[in-house]
Amino acid sequence: MKNVLVTGGAGFIGSNFIRYLLHTETDIHVFNLDALTYAGSLENLKEVADDVRYSFIQANITDTEFVEQFLAKHKIDTIVHFAAESHVDRSILGPRQFIETNVMGTFSMLEAARNIWIQPQNQPLENVRFHHVSTDEVFGSLAPGEPAWTEDTPYSPNSPYAASKASSDHLVRSYGHTYGLPYTITNCSNNYGPYQFPEKLIPLIILNAIEGKPLPVYGDGQQIRDWLHVEDHCEAIHLVLTKGAVGSTYNIGGENQPANLTIVETICEILDELSPASPHKPHKNLIQFVKDRPGHDRRYDMDTHKISVELGWRPRHTLTEGLLDTINWYLAHPEWVTAIRQQQAYQGWLDANYTSR
Ligand code: NAD
Ligand code: DAU
Repeated sequence: MKNVLVTGGAGFIGSNFIRYLLHTETDIHVFNLDALTYAGSLENLKEVADDVRYSFIQANITDTEFVEQFLAKHKIDTIVHFAAESHVDRSILGPRQFIETNVMGTFSMLEAARNIWIQPQNQPLENVRFHHVSTDEVFGSLAPGEPAWTEDTPYSPNSPYAASKASSDHLVRSYGHTYGLPYTITNCSNNYGPYQFPEKLIPLIILNAIEGKPLPVYGDGQQIRDWLHVEDHCEAIHLVLTKGAVGSTYNIGGENQPANLTIVETICEILDELSPASPHKPHKNLIQFVKDRPGHDRRYDMDTHKISVELGWRPRHTLTEGLLDTINWYLAHPEWVTAIRQQQAYQGWLDANYTSR
């Protein structure tokens, strides 16, 4: 790994990964290619902006010709592909962009990699790798007591977002099988931590609670996700890149599976302790049950045996420590929060998703 192209590096996980990579590796150059959609912000990368080993390029992953020229010009040997539309609720209200970015965008990245990296007779250049970042949502939804998903569980995506990610996973695998593209895929559970855009459950609840706004819990709040601190996810991806078997997929999960309502109540309790003088105490009085998400998946659970046995990975953060850490981060970064909340598009999203719920 010398010249690494990270797509979607201005988003939540991508920006955490770039910081992680620059911190962990020395002899490396990281190129961050990002279209800066509503979800991407260079505010997420201020800490590394002046690092000579880091460059930012504003471009779209659907622009195959641009990406091809970029791969050749900068002798890129590793692609870590995060760029995507990532929010399930947005995919329900407007699925088209998910197909364009997640399916066509991944296809475009694969075409660029094939054209530059794969020589005649399907011979790849030495030491190249296409790493695709995917999700546990491709597996669908578990009933109570059903065993956790393994890498061999058949795909059964339920939302347009999950279906678009499943399609992209299949495309990546097919480029490995047909053209010999050296790839790895990771399917990860729900991330949380610093720099997460406040449309997702945990940051939305933290910020609403601080401001005394209602805390919207979909349906009965008994849906279960497998929560993982973003730094643990970054560590797992780095391990897969450096030690994972080419042509393999790895499940990544947090070993933390409380119901949504428990997560929301825990955030309220932590805030009660951190802000004893808050006029909104007890914060749990702000909880409001609202109309459920259509087709809402009930339960996710990842079996992480493979990555743990093959690569020795396990999550380091407990959910209690990770949530405290995350809440403290949001409390300490009001300027980051203000910049995002001032975006007209953000307010528009809140109105579209919550007003008629
Ligand atoms: P995010 O929405 O925070 O960031 C996405 C980034 O991609 C943004 O910076 C955006 O500007 C960029 N982007 C979007 N469309 C683009 C395009 N056409 N060209 C270039 N850049 C574009 O997403 P995230 O939560 O950081 O997720 C990153 C990846 O990880 C996604 O592929 C997602 O499916 C996957 N994933 C996320 C989670 C999670 O809990 N957030 C869990 C598992 C997997
Ligand atoms: O499982 C991995 C996936 O996790 C990733 O692939 C996605 O990119 C990521 O967005 C996330 O998807 P979810 O739909 O699980 O995350 P979200 O934070 O939107 O919702 C988490 C749970 O909380 C889900 O059951 C819906 C519920 N929820 C969410 C919001 C925004 C609420 O009850 N109220 C809300 O206001």
